[in-house]
Amino acid sequence: MRIDVLSLFPEFFAASAEVGVVGRAIRQGLLQLHCHTPRDYTRDRHRRVDDRTFGGGPGMVMQVEPLREALTQVRAMAPEPALSIYLSPQGERLTQARVRQLAELPRLLLLCGRYEGVDERLVEHEIDLELSIGDYVLSGGELAAAVLIDAVGRLQEGALNRSESAAQDSFEDGLLDCPHYSRPEQDDYGAVPQVLMSGDHVAIERWRRKQALGRTWLRRPDLLARKSLTARERALLEEFRREWLAEQQ
Ligand code: ADE
Repeated sequence: MRIDVLSLFPEFFAASAEVGVVGRAIRQGLLQLHCHTPRDYTRDRHRRVDDRTFGGGPGMVMQVEPLREALTQVRAMAPEPALSIYLSPQGERLTQARVRQLAELPRLLLLCGRYEGVDERLVEHEIDLELSIGDYVLSGGELAAAVLIDAVGRLQEGALNRSESAAQDSFEDGLLDCPHYSRPEQDDYGAVPQVLMSGDHVAIERWRRKQALGRTWLRRPDLLARKSLTARERALLEEFRREWLAEQQ
């Protein structure tokens, strides 16, 4: 996959491109990341890309012309068709389901806004998808773009090794992940749940499923409401609820 980013702060992405799973995916050639600044595409002598907002009020707006020129030229840098995404708090809320879908595409073109955002005409004519990473306001789209790059990058074929497998991630099946433990078995903070030390893989899988269901019920009932549970899952959740309620006494 190739990802092009259009940002007033292209240097922002240097760390994302070097560290962790995504850094490794880039070094392995599974992901290409190219960052560009719209300032390179403006005809303005002072390389300005923003102007005052029509109608009055505070804040500046990123203008159509340099962004249109930048998008056109960046698109032409590679033959693959690119899905253009504008990161903004007005966008559709990003989910793992959307991440999985985007991870399959050959190319993404991410536009990061600053100030009050970009001229709406540019969004209407050039942007395929507007995405938000949550109901809060960042000072620009760069952090949101970095989030998207990470989420999509780690799903590239071969990016994760076996121990990092994505199959058990939170949200992959609409549930939160179960708790995880490592050595030592005994600590001042307590003991590791006994079943995890049993070597009984069926019992361990059952425990993990039950914990995932229970945590989702406790922390994200909205996720659970959207998921249809099997009879086995309903029974596991009921067992979790009963035990949890008994503990609250
Ligand atoms: N830009 C500013 N806030 C944002 C958010 N919550 N998501 C995506 N892009 C943004």
